Amino acid sequence: MSSSIYHVLLSLLLCFVLQEPTLAIKKPYIVYLGSHSFGQNPSQQDVESVTDFHYDLLGSFVGSTQNAKDAIFYSYNRHINGFAALLDEDEAAMVAKHPSVVSVFESKRRKLRTTHSWDFLGIHKNGVISHDSIWKKTLGEDVIIANLDSGVWPESKSFSDEGIGPVPIKWRGSCDSENFHCNRKLIGAKRFYKGYQARHKNAIFNTARDDSGHGSHTLSTAGGNFVDGASVFGNGNGTAHGGAPKSHVATYKVCWAQNSYCYDEDILAAFDAAISDGVDVISASLSGENTEFFQSGVSIGSFHAVANGIIVVSAAGNEGPNPTTVSNVEPWTFTVAASTIDREFANYVKLGNNKVLKGLSLSEFGLPSDKLYPLVNAENAKAHNANATDALYCKNGTLDHNKGNGKILVCHRYDGEPISQGVEVARVGGVGMILINDDSSFDVFSDTHVLPATYVNFTNGRYILTYINHTKSPLAHISRVNTNLGIRPDPIIASFSSRGPSSIDPTILKPDITAPGVDIIAAYSEAVPPGPHDKRRTPFMTMFGTSMATPHVAGLAGLLKAIHPDWSPAAIKSAIMTTARIKDNSGEPVLDEWLLDRATPLAYGAGVIQPNHAADPGLVYDIRTTDYLNFLCGRHYNSSMIQLFYGKSYTCPESFNIADFNYPSISINHLVHGYSQNVSRTLTNVGSPAKYRVHINAPREVIVSVKPKILRFKHKGEKRKFTVTFTLRPLKKSKADYFYGSLVWTNHKHIVRSPIVVKNPIL
Ligand SMILES: *[C@@H]1O[C@H](CO)[C@@H](O)[C@H](O)[C@H]1NC(C)=O
Ligand SMILES: *[C@@H]1O[C@H](CO)[C@@H](O)[C@H](O)[C@H]1NC(C)=O
Ligand SMILES: *[C@@H]1O[C@H](CO)[C@@H](O)[C@H](O)[C@H]1NC(C)=O
Ligand SMILES: *[C@@H]1O[C@H](CO)[C@@H](O)[C@H](O)[C@H]1NC(C)=O
Ligand SMILES: *[C@@H]1O[C@H](CO)[C@@H](O)[C@H](O)[C@H]1NC(C)=O
Repeated sequence: MSSSIYHVLLSLLLCFVLQEPTLAIKKPYIVYLGSHSFGQNPSQQDVESVTDFHYDLLGSFVGSTQNAKDAIFYSYNRHINGFAALLDEDEAAMVAKHPSVVSVFESKRRKLRTTHSWDFLGIHKNGVISHDSIWKKTLGEDVIIANLDSGVWPESKSFSDEGIGPVPIKWRGSCDSENFHCNRKLIGAKRFYKGYQARHKNAIFNTARDDSGHGSHTLSTAGGNFVDGASVFGNGNGTAHGGAPKSHVATYKVCWAQNSYCYDEDILAAFDAAISDGVDVISASLSGENTEFFQSGVSIGSFHAVANGIIVVSAAGNEGPNPTTVSNVEPWTFTVAASTIDREFANYVKLGNNKVLKGLSLSEFGLPSDKLYPLVNAENAKAHNANATDALYCKNGTLDHNKGNGKILVCHRYDGEPISQGVEVARVGGVGMILINDDSSFDVFSDTHVLPATYVNFTNGRYILTYINHTKSPLAHISRVNTNLGIRPDPIIASFSSRGPSSIDPTILKPDITAPGVDIIAAYSEAVPPGPHDKRRTPFMTMFGTSMATPHVAGLAGLLKAIHPDWSPAAIKSAIMTTARIKDNSGEPVLDEWLLDRATPLAYGAGVIQPNHAADPGLVYDIRTTDYLNFLCGRHYNSSMIQLFYGKSYTCPESFNIADFNYPSISINHLVHGYSQNVSRTLTNVGSPAKYRVHINAPREVIVSVKPKILRFKHKGEKRKFTVTFTLRPLKKSKADYFYGSLVWTNHKHIVRSPIVVKNPIL
């Protein structure tokens, strides 16, 4: 999201909560019935028979098949079995008791959450591809990446098919949208809106065109073509491209209108379509409230996708830095946190006393050379009848032309739109704006201001205010914006990035992984301005959020799929996780922007992606569909429910400890003093024959031992099991909530690293 969209979302969310009627009438529900057993490509007859079954099933509760037909607005009949219908509470409760039904739930609303970022990730250096780059192996040719988002702007150069190969034979999708064109790069466009339409009548649903900028941004980050000279109003100029620039992409528009809300029914329909269409990767920068696994469209949809060999990448969410905020916590999804990259868009304020202060901006404007301009606090440019606080914030209509004309105004940051603050300053003839924080905890952002402007932090803001107070004729100058690279230390985990542990099952460490998600430059929609009350359009834009981090991982997953077409989604995920970095570009542990201290696996999962290493991980922690079923058995789902979910009969093992689920990270939550806990894992060799040795970085408070300590693999595909034993040290009591460490298998060539998180039992 851009900072502006973020604030719009927050305020809209508030309105929604306040105005939602409490009276229960008919509401959209999802009735989930599990899997079909049609195989990859169901016939038309199969599909129709499922829908008839849905009508009959619901008909037996609502009086007639005709009533059922009126109530059902989606019949999921290809891979996912179920339907979405308008039901009242009693009807929903009755349907839930039917033996074919896995779950019935009220659908929930989800939120949507470069140029340089791939350089930073080591794929190339200033456009030159290094000898060890993953791009020496593939650019993602023949891979299909799907994006569940707000649609795309098809005219964006990122979606040009110049240099792109033919549409893969496996593609069964279509370009189903008015006023839109597909090509060999953008091979598909579909729209899913009936869930949105059930709540908001007045949107336009006939096109998959992006009306927010979000979908174009995310999809071009995953699979956009090369575009030279891409910049945001001249800043960050370079070649834009996705992680898999020669891949094919398809958009599934599930988020609608300016508010970009996306509902479970539409998301589930998009998953069902994408699975049928033959995509390889699904990128879904959506997040929302967590629920048990059968109660969410994203969770159910991604399970079916993964069971069909499709890797699903989704956003951790932007609710950080508080703990337990991470969303998309299912073990089958790949959940992405956000970090910074080593670039900033900076400009400088020079005061009349020659003091120079740095701020951030993406303004395309600068003031003429070194001329100094009168500087005033916006409060002192207040319009006659305006509220002084509102004037301080430079809200619309609060400033006076006679007092602001020809001057640089200091505006205070509030919960509104920085760009519209600049619009107000420009309206009264101000030549520039300095935005300041009046709380030291606020982040500073670069915005695409409509005049020369900069945003300084709390300390620098204080300095400027003091200067104004103590100077007879305060003066200032604002410079043009520079794009600074090589900023250290970097990466840093963004404070907004949602944190673990998982509120559903902390045994699965979430988030899984981290990728760049701050000030990412990618394609934008020319249907919308970069900020409110701004008349400009821009083909490229910076945005931030775990939404931006997600497609970096989706693009990388696409490259791995091209290199290793036989790898399961779990193998691809393991490869990306066990090769991630936890040191920054100064060689120090990666920091957390919030703590201003070392980040932990609850913030970054396995660490920050390293694409070139992920192509050759040596070993992977593989997981098959039946392992996910065992995990559900371990969580006390009964066999009949699992059978529906799976589509065939399945017998749960006698006992399954979910701690033994073969995840590439280890999270221990019930360790107590005086007892040990064992967890087992199985590694699969995906490299040459090799001998691996274990290295344990145990937390100070815990004794960790591994058996065996050496694993020999004679051939590719060979599996070896090992056991890790955890015991608390009796001596020291610690106040920390969690203890952190890692478990690493190495040979001369590979480092296979898993994070360890142990919950402190004292608290
Ligand atoms: C971006 O860089 C290219 C080549 O380096 C140059 O031709 C172009 O004018 C630049 N564009 C902007 C907006 O600075
Ligand atoms: C001025 O506006 C602020 C909110 O921006 C409000 O809290 C305050 O009460 C207003 N003051 C007057 C005098 O209206
Ligand atoms: C603001 O930035 C200055 C450097 O420009 C730095 O010294 C200071 O610590 C920063 N203050 C805050 C509150 O981040
Ligand atoms: C500047 O002066 C105003 C009023 O004269 C006062 O409210 C404010 O606290 C002063 N700010 C600083 C930073 O000195
Ligand atoms: C500012 O307010 C005026 C009148 O109150 C309105 O016509 C205009 O559209 C507003 N402009 C912005 C940028 O909000």
